[in-house]
Amino acid sequence: MGAIKRVAITTGGGDAPGLNAVIRGATISAIGLGWKVYGIRQGYTGVLEMTESEGIVPLTANRVRGITHLGGTILGTTNRGNPFEWPVKAGDRIVARDRSDELLEKFNRLGFDALIAIGGDGSLGIANRLAQKGLIVVGVPKTIDNDLQSTVVTFGFDTAVTNATDAIDKIHTTAESHQRVMVLEVMGRYAGWIALNSGVSGSADVVLIPEIPYDIEKVCEKVMQREKSGRHFTIVVVAEGAKPKGGALSTIGEKAVGREVKLGGIADRIAHEIEKRTGKEARTLVLGHLQRGGAPTTFDRLLSLRFGSAAVRTLNQGKTGVMVALNPPKVDIVPLDQAVSKMKSVQMDSDTLLTGRYLGICFGD
Ligand code: F6P
Repeated sequence: MGAIKRVAITTGGGDAPGLNAVIRGATISAIGLGWKVYGIRQGYTGVLEMTESEGIVPLTANRVRGITHLGGTILGTTNRGNPFEWPVKAGDRIVARDRSDELLEKFNRLGFDALIAIGGDGSLGIANRLAQKGLIVVGVPKTIDNDLQSTVVTFGFDTAVTNATDAIDKIHTTAESHQRVMVLEVMGRYAGWIALNSGVSGSADVVLIPEIPYDIEKVCEKVMQREKSGRHFTIVVVAEGAKPKGGALSTIGEKAVGREVKLGGIADRIAHEIEKRTGKEARTLVLGHLQRGGAPTTFDRLLSLRFGSAAVRTLNQGKTGVMVALNPPKVDIVPLDQAVSKMKSVQMDSDTLLTGRYLGICFGD
């Protein structure tokens, strides 16, 4: 592997607070080593579908000034940008085409020596396959869902939990005033981390996560127990990927080529069941993309700057096919294929889960 002179940065999948801080951390660190840095717009779209002047952003110290605290990504992102399964029109159908060779050719033509891929399991899975095809790649673990193996935490998660906890705090006062059941749906895909951490921190009464299929009877028992003890309101926090025992996920629409099925609707399902079974008014709030918006917390800013800078140091050590990972107190380097090999889900012996149980939170089981 020759000396790196030109490095590309891509941000893929759903945005997460801290992306800009990673871009800044990596850019300034790389410039310090005498490298040139280029951002690719909208995942790999900037290389595959745009002209060089449209799709490639030269990242200078000036260009990344004042962005550490900004949510979103200055490069844009997409969750339909898998070069191995690029959606293309074939008559009136959309089919997947493998454009990875074309991507590597274009990288070559653009003179990129290495790639810093900032993403969640999907984007890092792509980065891993590109590394296997010979590209020099370091991954940075991003996702509000915190479902990536090999890192104690992903950046973006702390901000999402903070936003969700803030919403739970606010919902408490209105739920109590109206003596209602409030069902708050949070993101997280197939992992319950956001629901668990915000639910326990925000003193929810019921927390439902994908890892524990729920029994609606247990949820209603909790509502009625509270009713009898003079607590005429109940806060239910439900992860979008939660499902009833023996039941199915709540999804929206059909799965499109090259992207995951959209999750949603579980809060409505639960509120409806609670009203039917307990006679109490139950209302819903779907927090949605609010969880991903706005400024990163201090924790996420610092972690993102550390990850960005560590990614550059990792490339400078001649490493490829790896991901930077938090292993307190340090940032480690782990193999990418290990990081994307399986999802990190909430374990039944998790002390946060046990804390919730000991505090009297109902987990629907
Ligand atoms: O992976 C991050 C995430 O926010 C998930 O929690 C959620 O299911 C998904 O992305 C939503 O994706 P989109 O922004 O495409 O609706």
